[in-house]
Amino acid sequence: MSRPYSAERPEFPPAVPDPDADSATDAVASVRVADAVPSGVALSPSAPSSADPFPLNLDALRTSTGFGPLAGRSIVLIGLMGAGKSTIGRRLAQRLGLGFVDADAEIERAAGCSISDVFRMYGEGAFRDGERRVIRRLLDGPSRVLATGGGAFMNAETRAVIRERAISVWLRCPLDILVRRVAGRSHRPLLNHSRPRDVLERLITERHPVYAEADIIVQCGDDNVDNSTTRVIEALALNHRPRRLPVALDRASYDVVIGAGLIERAGALLAPVLPQKRVVVVTDATVAELWLPPLLESLGDSGFHVRTVVVPPGEKSKSLEEFGRVTDAILEQGVERRTTIIALGGGIVGDLAGFVAASTLRGLPFVQIPTTLLSQVDSSVGGKTGINTRWGKNLIGAFHQPAAVLADISTLATLPAREIRAGYAEIIKAGLIGDERFFAWCEMHGATVLSQEPEPLAEAVERACAFKAAVVTKDEFERSSEGGRALLNLGHTFGHALEAELGYDGRLLHGEAVSIGLRLAFLLSVRLGYCPQADLDRLTRHLESTGMPAWISDTGEAFAADTLLRHMTRDKKMHDGKLTFILVRGIGRAFTCRDVPEAAVRAVLIEEGCASDALQTPDNGRPK
Ligand SMILES: NC(=O)c1ccc[n+]([C@@H]2O[C@H](COP(=O)([O-])OP(=O)(O)OC[C@H]3O[C@@H](n4cnc5c(N)ncnc54)[C@H](O)[C@@H]3O)[C@@H](O)[C@H]2O)c1
Repeated sequence: MSRPYSAERPEFPPAVPDPDADSATDAVASVRVADAVPSGVALSPSAPSSADPFPLNLDALRTSTGFGPLAGRSIVLIGLMGAGKSTIGRRLAQRLGLGFVDADAEIERAAGCSISDVFRMYGEGAFRDGERRVIRRLLDGPSRVLATGGGAFMNAETRAVIRERAISVWLRCPLDILVRRVAGRSHRPLLNHSRPRDVLERLITERHPVYAEADIIVQCGDDNVDNSTTRVIEALALNHRPRRLPVALDRASYDVVIGAGLIERAGALLAPVLPQKRVVVVTDATVAELWLPPLLESLGDSGFHVRTVVVPPGEKSKSLEEFGRVTDAILEQGVERRTTIIALGGGIVGDLAGFVAASTLRGLPFVQIPTTLLSQVDSSVGGKTGINTRWGKNLIGAFHQPAAVLADISTLATLPAREIRAGYAEIIKAGLIGDERFFAWCEMHGATVLSQEPEPLAEAVERACAFKAAVVTKDEFERSSEGGRALLNLGHTFGHALEAELGYDGRLLHGEAVSIGLRLAFLLSVRLGYCPQADLDRLTRHLESTGMPAWISDTGEAFAADTLLRHMTRDKKMHDGKLTFILVRGIGRAFTCRDVPEAAVRAVLIEEGCASDALQTPDNGRPK
């Protein structure tokens, strides 16, 4: 069906159909334009004017009777030609009991002519406008599965409509598979003029950075339709719209983004907040194996130039030696002032990479992608960075705020149970400091958080993170004399002393030390007469019932009270040579207590089973 151009037509984009009208082209074959023309739709090539949108009969759109478990939202599939949007879309709709609609077919139905003709007669601008109106109308209806043409999501207004009303799923497919799938498909006009591989390569460069804004990304390779559909369903089940917690500070503001699948979208999430598309990813060897590949893919999709530096896992990497090695590697790679350091890993990588960012070239932009529970709920937020010395933990460091924090809760799926427990200590800490209701929530849901049930786990991360963000916003540099950021150290003076004594060799994780430290801070508060015994008992019960370390004897190690006290006097939290502790008046009522008598601390340690002088311990301190 060829129509001549109208002589009156002003300049339109070339009469090339959407190169990726894969779903449409099927429809072009099946919709006989003459049959489908609704009354009143002008097909004459001389009728339209460039100022007018092309006429659409929106009432001609199919309505769906399906409904689904998506809170009224539809699922919009996006991706390049050959990715399988129509095939997977149909199967997905069938399995979810939803209607399936091919947006391009509906555009043709509403336009009364093929997409090729719309492009030729009205130009791409008019087509995109019509496409947006059709998609909006389709998304107004009951929830359904919608396959869109490959160019639809490239249009900012259409993206906004989809974001507002649907869940977008990018079916991401490797180039080689796409090339194979589109081979010999003569109904894709663009492919008839150039080598399919060249066309697809160009489309990947143009479109992947924008597709990366999809809510969900599903890798679709050579798997069969059923398996790919299952993956989409699983990803939908895990989908929580990312939550953004703003951290608004005097000199810097940033968002903590919390959600599933964020690493796969990191490029799109970071591109708008970074000064340059050059980054160095610092990670540790364990995390590199698990989570570096999707991060590199996502950054690559968004056009980032990426280098990586891998450090050994473990607290030993927070050392001057490793700091030197990482800065050397970064400088050797020719880092620029606007190059961003991305920390991918737990609190150790975050603290080390953050300090590297703070000090290299007097400060490079910095991003945190925390992958442990502890780092998601605590260390990645607030800008404290640093390394350890033989004199104690975090004694060299700087405040250096990140430009963004992406807390991808999907990464927790690969975290060992012991690390989850370590992170949980920092979660309950939030409740113990200032939110009794949150602690009560932990009492109800702690076991499910620890067994990594996605819903309670996500909620715990959000609530603890929100708590930390709020505290940091009010007292960025820990200057507040009362309350403020220092309260976040609840349990840490005891915890750091235990860690230091064991030499950070993995026998006691930081979070485990904090867990024990929390109980000791409550015990000291009770002994000093600040806190009711009932609150200490409540905390002990919760720690024990969830399998958290609560007693010094849970470390399985022997300690001497005086040695631990010596570590405490070297802690940064000393003021004028006096022992300063964060104590509690009860659950949710922490306060700073300066000048805590050393004798009271020693008595608590001995009560816990520590040796009073040399190391010939111990009674384990537990009530008989
Ligand atoms: N800056 C702050 O405000 C702050 C606050 C609290 C703690 N910290 C620091 O954080 C550090 C502890 O952090 P951490 O507990 O996250 O330890 P970590 O960084 O050592 O991570 C724990 C272990 O888990 C591995 N790992 C990380 N992510 C994983 C994943 N998704 N799947 C499988 N394995 C994974 C790591 O390789 C490592 O072996 C301490 O040095 C502590 O001082 C800093």
